[in-house]
Amino acid sequence: MESLKLGSLEVWPPVVLAPMAGITNAPFRTLCREQGGGLFVCEMITTRALVERNPKTFRMIRFEPAEKPRSIQLYGVDPVTVGRAVRMIADEDLADHVDLNFGCPVPKVTRRGGGSALPYKRNLLRAILREAVRNAGTLPVTMKMRKGIDDDHLTYLDAGRIAVEEGVSAIALHGRTALQHYGGTADWEAIARLKEAVTEIPVLGNGDIWSADDAMRMMAETGCDGVVVGRGCLGRPWLFRDLAAVCEGSGERVRPRLGEVAATMDRHATLLTECFDSEHHAVADFRKHVGWYLKGFTVGADLRRRLATAGTLAGLREGLAELDPDQPWPAGVDAPRGKTNPRDRVHLPAGWLDDPYDLAVPGADAELDTSGG
Ligand SMILES: Cc1cc2nc3c(=O)[nH]c(=O)nc-3n(C[C@H](O)[C@H](O)[C@H](O)COP(=O)(O)O)c2cc1C
Repeated sequence: MESLKLGSLEVWPPVVLAPMAGITNAPFRTLCREQGGGLFVCEMITTRALVERNPKTFRMIRFEPAEKPRSIQLYGVDPVTVGRAVRMIADEDLADHVDLNFGCPVPKVTRRGGGSALPYKRNLLRAILREAVRNAGTLPVTMKMRKGIDDDHLTYLDAGRIAVEEGVSAIALHGRTALQHYGGTADWEAIARLKEAVTEIPVLGNGDIWSADDAMRMMAETGCDGVVVGRGCLGRPWLFRDLAAVCEGSGERVRPRLGEVAATMDRHATLLTECFDSEHHAVADFRKHVGWYLKGFTVGADLRRRLATAGTLAGLREGLAELDPDQPWPAGVDAPRGKTNPRDRVHLPAGWLDDPYDLAVPGADAELDTSGG
């Protein structure tokens, strides 16, 4: 297995923590990074908020001193604004790598022509990638996308070629359409087809890696140059130790007892408190992680509820102390976790599918309230 080459950046093992809004902040990246190597992408930010120097956005792209390379994911719909945002990152040394998100399936985003709706407009996609690369200096620019809008409107092969032509350093494909949202299973065949079509730059596979063995299987079945892991590491930052081990050819896997899981939960909530500078905000944010950490363990409903509704770090710790530290890692948890829901339709602007080549730029409101991929 080879390291992943993103322009001048070399990443070993060829493993990427998928950007996940509300999850992959500095504390979670720290927990994952401490387990094994790879590239750990920040939460997505919008290009408009960055160029407007929104203070919240600047807080979201704070990195720990030990984070190398620093990776920012941008979401934008306007080539000019994307170019300005990338130039800012390069000129102000805000990161070492920029990823562009074209995978967001959220209705309020696709309805305005953004996210996973955007690559349907080939020329607009090209213009955005061109401006991003042109303004990036020596920073590698990568893109992350889905297969397309739905099975009748697949865009990934065209988008892959356009990315190569515009000087993008690598492409990550989430093997689902926007219509699938997070439902069904990811189509690894599509990743293999993209890898065949794009030979000049690395192709990364994304979707349904729940264990290190899944990562190996994806690489073997698709020929992809690296893997992007999202929901599989929710409540399991040690998956990155397994991924490093498997890439080094080791069969060792981390199977923590409940006591170690509780210690990680405590650390995660503590890091969030330091990062947010607000215990209240941190403990509230941590609530969504509780179910993921405890998935498969035998924990009474009352204690689960108390952990998931704790209002202070002390309250959380009181609950954690009641967990049975010797309970072994449960079987069968290398399985779907996090969002798994499909959608019944993709919301698009009126007439969006009429012309795949028009260059109309979606309005600035396509960048409002954006989250997720
Ligand atoms: C809570 C959540 C937030 C996400 N936010 C983003 C995001 O900001 N940018 C992005 O490109 N993808 C985002 N995604 C999609 C993931 O990066 C990834 O493509 C998707 O979950 C499929 O990979 P997986 O099967 O390994 O989870 C998000 C996914 C989840 C579950």
